[in-house]
Amino acid sequence: MNAPQTLSRWSTPGSSRVPFWAYTDAQLYQRELEKIFYGAHWCYVGLEVEIPNLGDFKLAWVGERQVIMVRDRKKPAGKLESDPDSGIRVVENRCAHRGVRFCQKPQGNARSFVCPYHQWTYKLNGELAGLPFKDGVKDGECVNGGMPADFDIKQHGLTQLRVAVLHGLVFATFSDDTESLAEYLGPQVMPWLDRIFKGRQLTLLGYNRQRIPGNWKLMMENIKDPYHPGLLHTWFVTFGLWRADQKSRMVMDAQGRHAVMISRRNEGGQNAAVTEGVTSFKANMTLHDARLLDVVPEPWWTIDDPSNPGSDITPTVTMITLFPSLIIQQQVNSLSTRHIVPRGEGEFDFIWTHFGFADDTPEMTRRRLRQANLFGPAGFVSADDGEVIELSQDGFRQWGEEGATLCELGGTGTGPTEHMVTETLIRSMYAYWKRVMSV
Ligand code: FES
Ligand code: FE2
Repeated sequence: MNAPQTLSRWSTPGSSRVPFWAYTDAQLYQRELEKIFYGAHWCYVGLEVEIPNLGDFKLAWVGERQVIMVRDRKKPAGKLESDPDSGIRVVENRCAHRGVRFCQKPQGNARSFVCPYHQWTYKLNGELAGLPFKDGVKDGECVNGGMPADFDIKQHGLTQLRVAVLHGLVFATFSDDTESLAEYLGPQVMPWLDRIFKGRQLTLLGYNRQRIPGNWKLMMENIKDPYHPGLLHTWFVTFGLWRADQKSRMVMDAQGRHAVMISRRNEGGQNAAVTEGVTSFKANMTLHDARLLDVVPEPWWTIDDPSNPGSDITPTVTMITLFPSLIIQQQVNSLSTRHIVPRGEGEFDFIWTHFGFADDTPEMTRRRLRQANLFGPAGFVSADDGEVIELSQDGFRQWGEEGATLCELGGTGTGPTEHMVTETLIRSMYAYWKRVMSV
């Protein structure tokens, strides 16, 4: 692919001024698909718990390519890169014959996949099992047609992606060059994934889906931006779920692409330092149904502090961004994965999967579901984010070529911090993005 004109135009040093074209250039977006989503990155496809039984499958996306996540028989030890084999395969939903996107069911159970057009049949692992009239059709003594004698069925399966599973989270990559998933995520982020998932059996509580008319990176930025929650979100600043007077920490991996925003809620209410003049703060706002904030601390919230071994840390909220397309949210008792599926440079689908744990009491499950009302397309909190992302894209579009965002809260550096008055995580993501995109 020819490098778009734009690739030489990042004219400021560092990564604190992101040019508007990084969000609006259609050619650049095609290059992002190639370099990022189809390149050497692990992309989230789903949760193991979504396909519990042999033959269970679910459609998913890696970039704009539709894939099938499916549970196959496990291979004996030593045969695959993820040892022991999880049995989970990810194959592209595109027939090897004439390119048909053959699977139409969003989820289900199958013994094999059959393309409707000419009935080529694939095993769960994507290998071609058979095709009609391969050896032609007999007409008396002669045989008419069929595939050439050297047609090798083994060479014509579905595209098989590499798969890695961590604590029930399933990732896939098209690239042979992607490092192991553990290396990809890095030791800084891993303790925060372990805290939520390690050794736990998940339960699926439900989905939300929405389409947001903004560039996909804006959603990653939003969850790397600890500045806005206590300003944009009435709910957060008023009820103390996330605001600038809380003890917080910003963590990132060595490459700056993944991040964790960690914080601990307080009682909310008035505090001149963070509420005075903040129009989203509503001193008189109370809940008709207090159960929405009926927060019950859970034992797993407390872990040995990865930055201060020997002392504990008990956050009430952790927002994990795994580049390029996954957000993992713990906000008090509500848990979800949020998957970003790009749809062109100016739009993305946002898929929320709410989950809990197999040992939750029925009360805890109801509590998680009630608190999930803060999130999703119409969430008391998250509706604000979807809207402001649309407004951002509108602003970029109306200005055109020369504009850039200003992202210098807390300086222009890209290091971790022990507070939230900073845009460091956004800068570190764009420093990485610039390297991958060769801008
Ligand atoms: Fe799928 Fe022909 S296109 S079998
Ligand atoms: Fe937000």
